[in-house]
Amino acid sequence: MSGTAIIGLQWGDEAKGKVVDLLTDQNDVVVRYQGGANAGHTVVFGGEKYKLSLIPSGIFRPDVQSIIATGVVIDPKSLFDEIDSLTSRGILIAKNLMISDRAHLIFPWHKVEDAILDRSNGREAIGTTMRGIGPCYQDKVGRSLAIRVGDMYKSEFRNRVQHVATIKKQYIDRLICDLDKEIHLPEISTDFNIEQIIADYTGYADRMRQYVNDTTNYLLDAVDADKRVLFEGAQGSLLDIDHGTFPFVTSSNSSGTGICAGSGIPPQFIKKIIGVMKAYTTRVGGGPFPTELDNEIGDTIRKKGNEYGTVTKRPRRCGWFDAVAARYAARLSGVDSVGLMLLDVLSGHEILRICTSYNVNGREFNHFPSQTEDLRLAMPNYETLPGWEGDLTNIKNYNDLPSNAKYYIQRISELIGKKIEIISVGADREQTIFCR
Ligand code: IMP
Repeated sequence: MSGTAIIGLQWGDEAKGKVVDLLTDQNDVVVRYQGGANAGHTVVFGGEKYKLSLIPSGIFRPDVQSIIATGVVIDPKSLFDEIDSLTSRGILIAKNLMISDRAHLIFPWHKVEDAILDRSNGREAIGTTMRGIGPCYQDKVGRSLAIRVGDMYKSEFRNRVQHVATIKKQYIDRLICDLDKEIHLPEISTDFNIEQIIADYTGYADRMRQYVNDTTNYLLDAVDADKRVLFEGAQGSLLDIDHGTFPFVTSSNSSGTGICAGSGIPPQFIKKIIGVMKAYTTRVGGGPFPTELDNEIGDTIRKKGNEYGTVTKRPRRCGWFDAVAARYAARLSGVDSVGLMLLDVLSGHEILRICTSYNVNGREFNHFPSQTEDLRLAMPNYETLPGWEGDLTNIKNYNDLPSNAKYYIQRISELIGKKIEIISVGADREQTIFCR
């Protein structure tokens, strides 16, 4: 078997969906293994744009088995909204989708907890997607209040939901009571009807039954049968719960470290890891971002790159390419080669900058700081490169790129110590340059 993984090397939104989509026809199975409906993957082909959140990007190839594996947290409402939207556009979703019976379920209380806790934690908000991701993973690790997909098919399901919901109701009432009066919650209902939730989730269970399986066992069989498996990372390595810019991270291992835990595949079966990054840097939500361009240049990149969240529509913070952060992420995720995305967005700048080290309180940092406070103080040291003019979106060969663009790519490759294998100059499958 050959396992290939696609991992984001920045703070998410690196256009991983496009790379997964490009590679799915060389694979038998595509696996989402962490995160949930906080992810937003855009896939464009044949002039049509599709937005995916929970469903693996392999879904567009009917002969490929798409798997939502154990490490994913599933909001059934989001899942079925996505399925309905795709099927209404003619995409087949049947036995080609499989969902782990070990995956954890997001309930309405998780979203309420997400909204309250992020606004009342006594420090800068993480700026979560408010999809209930953190609270659901919290319950998974805590175990006592967790409910998994497989639990929906057990006779005690109703009692289990009633039990957990009652505890959650008391907890949320208490949180609301303690909430600083100055803090305004976004427009979500903090009150929930337990009977309605039981009815809704019983309905979801019926609909989901056709997809539910022991995906770990399926994947271990795929290993034995020498199948080709593609692992689709969500978010980016710098948002990793353990190795990212904690606490401004997501609640799963979104770097390469999460592949095995989330899918159940043993490490030695992953034969290739492709890291995906933009030709510049973006971040959505709170947290330090040393190369952020809170100015006209950042606005230009945002506009040209359409840097608005797929899930939350929030404007993304934009900045220069940070080679310190990208080198760290590439090493952490064990990347073999890199897909450099959205290069076309950088056309038209007289100069471009790449951050090559940080200055933190007079000390030079060549590595990514472990303490978020240090990253917050980090002043980037930049290398300045000449920019280029012209539209890159129709270029198909590396040699046809402007020489300054080739130099920019080469410097990034040198600074992060990895080969650039794919260059993307537009959203469509066709707008891709493969460097052999
Ligand atoms: P959560 O994953 O909703 O808990 O959000 C935690 C942090 O991760 C916030 O800063 C989010 O903006 C960020 N985040 C979560 N998912 C994504 C993503 O798919 N792309 C970019 N940022 C994300």
